[in-house]
Amino acid sequence: MNPAVELKDVTLIFGGDHPKDEPVLAVQDIDLSIPPGQFVAVVGPSGCGKTTILNMLAGIIGPTRGSVMRHGQEIDGPSDDIGYMLARSGLSPWRTARRNVELGLEFRGVPRGERRERAMELLAKLRLEGFADSFPSQLSQGMRQRVAIARTLAIDPDLWLMDEPFGALDAQTRLTVQAEFLDLWYETHKTVIFVTHDLEEAVLLADRVVVMTARPGRIKSDTIVDLARPRVIDELRFDPVFRETEHRIWEELRGEIV
Ligand SMILES: Nc1ncnc2c1ncn2[C@@H]1O[C@H](COP(=O)(O)OP(=O)(O)O)[C@@H](O)[C@H]1O
Ligand SMILES: [Mg+2]
Repeated sequence: MNPAVELKDVTLIFGGDHPKDEPVLAVQDIDLSIPPGQFVAVVGPSGCGKTTILNMLAGIIGPTRGSVMRHGQEIDGPSDDIGYMLARSGLSPWRTARRNVELGLEFRGVPRGERRERAMELLAKLRLEGFADSFPSQLSQGMRQRVAIARTLAIDPDLWLMDEPFGALDAQTRLTVQAEFLDLWYETHKTVIFVTHDLEEAVLLADRVVVMTARPGRIKSDTIVDLARPRVIDELRFDPVFRETEHRIWEELRGEIV
């Protein structure tokens, strides 16, 4: 079976097109192969190329060298079976929660009744059914981020790209949203690439944690998280295997941060 996602010897250099434009070597010699259904977290210092990698997978930018593939096919542009969620949820302020969730389905021409049903189903899973008709300004930040999750997943994407999606949440809200997100993922087992600066979050959620070096970003370590699923993350935080894994990965990461 082809990997769901594969980067082969990928290097990306920004700029340098004009004599005065100093080129930036963002990522270098990245090799990464992800089987379908794996939940991979990517951690690394700011500016090491995490978002750049997601953008290549989303087909927004292409590598300077090497190849970026999905299911054995070179990516040659944006694809509508990818869900891409950013740290800032960016909901439309003039749409209700439900109509925000329906957005991607509208673009695809899904009929109104079906759209509504799918949106309500997701909102219910995120315990937001009572807020379907609320506008983003009427929701807490945690609720807005849950609406953004629902919007990302409404199209039932085959690949989930998450760029520090919970980075703006306070610690308590974050734990709740992480748990809900993990349950949604567990139902579908789609391939996830989850960028975070929070190592605890990476180990709690992922099957595998990839550490990147400071720019130019390369892969420094790649660790399997050997913890059973389904996971109850607020208990798992105190599990010795969890703590040991987090500590081991931290030893790799700290050298890049300090
Ligand atoms: N469009 C661009 N033009 C020039 N440099 C860029 C561009 N986008 C990102 N970079 C640079 O590439 C590096 C990697 O950026 P990014 O992938 O956003 O890092 P991260 O998400 O890990 O913080 C950074 O040094 C950033 O400044
Ligand atoms: Mg980034």
